[in-house]
Amino acid sequence: MGSSTLISDTDAWKDLKSHVEDIKKTHLRDLMSDTARCQSMMVEFDGMLLDYSRQRVTVNTVDKLYKLAEAAYLKEKIKRMYSGEHINSTENRSVLHVALRASRDEVICSDGKNVVPDVWNVLDKIRDFSERVRSGSWVGATGKALKDVIAIGIGGSFLGPLFVHTALQTDPEAMECAKGRQLRFLANVDPTDVVRSTVGLKPETTLVVVVSKTFTTAESMLNARTMREWISSALGTSAVAKHMVAVSTNLLVSVSCIISYIHFCLFLMQLVEKFGIDPSNAFAFWDWVGGRYSVCSAVGVLPLSLQYGFPVVEKFLKGASSIDQHFYSAPFEKNIPVLLGLLSIWNVSFLGYPARAILPYSQALEKFAPHIQQLSMESNGKGVSIDGVPLPYEAGEIDFGEPGTNGQHSFYQLIHQGRVIPCDFIGSAKSQQPIHLKGEVVSNHDELMSNFFAQPDALAFGKTPEELHKENVPQHLISHKTFSGNRPSLSLLLPALNACNVGQLLAIYEHRIAVEGFIWGINSFDQWGVELGKSLATQVRKQLHASRTKGEPVKGFNFSTTTLLTRYLEATQD
Ligand code: F6P
Repeated sequence: MGSSTLISDTDAWKDLKSHVEDIKKTHLRDLMSDTARCQSMMVEFDGMLLDYSRQRVTVNTVDKLYKLAEAAYLKEKIKRMYSGEHINSTENRSVLHVALRASRDEVICSDGKNVVPDVWNVLDKIRDFSERVRSGSWVGATGKALKDVIAIGIGGSFLGPLFVHTALQTDPEAMECAKGRQLRFLANVDPTDVVRSTVGLKPETTLVVVVSKTFTTAESMLNARTMREWISSALGTSAVAKHMVAVSTNLLVSVSCIISYIHFCLFLMQLVEKFGIDPSNAFAFWDWVGGRYSVCSAVGVLPLSLQYGFPVVEKFLKGASSIDQHFYSAPFEKNIPVLLGLLSIWNVSFLGYPARAILPYSQALEKFAPHIQQLSMESNGKGVSIDGVPLPYEAGEIDFGEPGTNGQHSFYQLIHQGRVIPCDFIGSAKSQQPIHLKGEVVSNHDELMSNFFAQPDALAFGKTPEELHKENVPQHLISHKTFSGNRPSLSLLLPALNACNVGQLLAIYEHRIAVEGFIWGINSFDQWGVELGKSLATQVRKQLHASRTKGEPVKGFNFSTTTLLTRYLEATQD
């Protein structure tokens, strides 16, 4: 396949297209009765088990998907990513989030420079700073220890850290380390979110971490100014330096930087300093880390280390790193992110199922689906190939989800009898917080997991009218109670849910999404689609200012927006 050839022009793609007809003739009820097939669809890694036997695939389909991967040069593309090539071509950047969790002795280069020492310089600085804050040797303006942290950030500077924090919140080891501390997030520019994130907290015992890759995002900057006011009105302007720190793209000027890059770094440093944050309390990351792939940089590591201590976060990084190595070296048949990515391609581009439900049977993973929504949809929701050619097929998946069993009492009706939505069931063999009530047949976790095991079968096997007749279901209810089945899912059973497993889960999905993008031939690492809305909001902001300060009428917008804006201004006039 030449660089500008679309994957849909390859024989491998065309072969899969015609193979769809063979699969349409099958039902999961029959496919599941073939034990050898099912056995070949179980993959183990480090105590976790992936079972994809409930996907609408035969062994033959999977072989064809491997051929598709070859036709898309998947292996080569993975290598190019790890070797620091500028695979994010529209932004001319490397994509090296794997370097964020590399061990000290690894060598990973971007633009000919090993970036691992820089990564560890920042990690060491975070370890030192978080230990000082946690031990009370770094104190606030009134001499009190800073026991609460508010992390300001949005999108990639928020969703991943929130997911990991929520996952660790009830992990016994992490809980023990977090005793007496609170970590909260402030993302939405809605002033209500300011109140929600500060309620019950006192400025004198709070540290604010401003997380923004660019340090220019409108929402985060306004929230940062709002929190600066919260601190300085209570403690004086000079308190800002003690109560606010920043995370932003590379603030350290390296001698090997090209001149324009030095200017950019200085510009960011100035932004941080101008804001009132001491640049020595700024934690760097780099332009080769995409926002939504930045959880393992200071974006996530700083707030999480403040809350749980660096050693817990290091375990999380090691978990992610173990998947990075697995992804790089395991053959496709045993490679969990590759298999998941290929199955997604099959479901979206061949079977025509555009959505994916993420269903963790774990309350601790309640923020996993929101993180994957950004990771997946911002990465792969693209209309053109990496070379700018309009795609003749649709790329990207619509992700949504809720923890089981809550989801079962919400949207599962549609999944069972309405639209076909491939489902990811994620479970943990051990509970973070087991309970077994006296007199109950099973433990609470067994109760939860009974659903984890039952739901995929309900989707795959369904229930036939014949079975219903045997149960004497009245004729007029037969069609209502029939389940067509044949609805694909996969199950990922983790051994436990500790910091390491959470890191593994994160990296599995990061790489799965990259695999999808590599096969679709798109750039999964840019996000031009978020720009238009941002610039239109700037126009509206100017209009609101002009109308409020000079009474200027709304002008330059279409009829609908003019009407809405006028109504808004009228309704909010003093
Ligand atoms: O939503 C667009 C986006 O650019 C994301 O990609 C990014 O994670 C987020 O905004 C926040 O950007 P920043 O970290 O620069 O504030």
